[in-house]
Amino acid sequence: MSKINPDVGAYSSQEYVDSFDPALYLREYYSMEEIGNADTAIATEAGRWLGQMGREFTNGIDVGCGPVLEYPFVFAPYVKKYDLADYLPANLQNIELWLSEHVDAHDWNPLFRGILRTQGLDPDECLISRSEKLRKAINQLRRIDLFEEHPLVQPQQYDLVTSFFCTECVGCNKSDWKKLKTRLIDLVAPGGSFFFGLMRGCTRYQILGKWFPAYPVQPEELQELLAEREIDAELTVHSCPEFSESGFGEIIIARGTKA
Ligand SMILES: C[S@@+](CC[C@H](N)C(=O)[O-])C[C@H]1O[C@@H](n2cnc3c(N)ncnc32)[C@H](O)[C@@H]1O
Repeated sequence: MSKINPDVGAYSSQEYVDSFDPALYLREYYSMEEIGNADTAIATEAGRWLGQMGREFTNGIDVGCGPVLEYPFVFAPYVKKYDLADYLPANLQNIELWLSEHVDAHDWNPLFRGILRTQGLDPDECLISRSEKLRKAINQLRRIDLFEEHPLVQPQQYDLVTSFFCTECVGCNKSDWKKLKTRLIDLVAPGGSFFFGLMRGCTRYQILGKWFPAYPVQPEELQELLAEREIDAELTVHSCPEFSESGFGEIIIARGTKA
């Protein structure tokens, strides 16, 4: 029997959890030096935002990190202790391979070089020091489940919370998305900041030839949710035609600081 839900023309989120292969995913999507429009927008907007704030965060967390070190690489110079958190143990194990410089670790160097170049830096000069900064900044690899009332088991808040393409993929209807996004925002400590990247208006997205459901979030409803919690945020929308055949053509970037 097909596991595809005909209503959305996609597998269930559970299928993602059951069948995801981190090493294959990284080989397919994170092996090149070339950076697409979405990641260029994230790297440049984050670089500008972090530079303007000129702040070193005492602690930070990347929620729903997957096996992906690209975004933590961007934030690492500004975070003393950076926890990386995901629901799937296999994703965290994959990151552990890189941390321990295991022979089976993914080779992040081409992509890290591309990020540095996007940020106007010379990869030959900066790759080693930025990679060391990332290794040093990564503190704990943590299991997280945003469906739990206390997603990290022990309630905890962070100075900086980052998250990319997570809540709209995990909470696929409006009420779940709102609940999970609220839990994510609640991880930000008073006076702390957040930086999120989301697919805009995407009902299903494709990974390694399989379609998975998503909640088609629009910037207005994210702005509304933040306003309900009295948080001032800046939202921008960026075009990414490289993903139009994977279910979305724009991303939303949201960043702000809690009072
Ligand atoms: C589309 S992936 C995004 C991964 C990564 N941030 C990136 O940009 O490539 C969504 C992530 O959410 C994680 N996830 C799944 N269920 C979750 C849950 N209940 N709580 C938190 N994260 C979850 C998945 O394991 C996956 O790594």
